[in-house]
Amino acid sequence: MYVCLCNAITDRQIKESVAAGANSLTDLQSQLGVATCCGCCADLASSFLSSHHESQTNCCKTGS
Ligand code: FES
Repeated sequence: MYVCLCNAITDRQIKESVAAGANSLTDLQSQLGVATCCGCCADLASSFLSSHHESQTNCCKTGS
């Protein structure tokens, strides 16, 4: 699905960037151009960052 309509960025592209090491909205903006026009998608784009980091945290907790 499209997350950023202004720049035609999909959730898949954002997930790939996060998996490749993007850890802030600034990273996503520089790599994909998401949230660089109207900014309406900034919260949704950021939610992919937090969900990825939560899964990493859960993984670490499970391992201890
Ligand atoms: S919808 Fe992403 S910048 Fe406008």
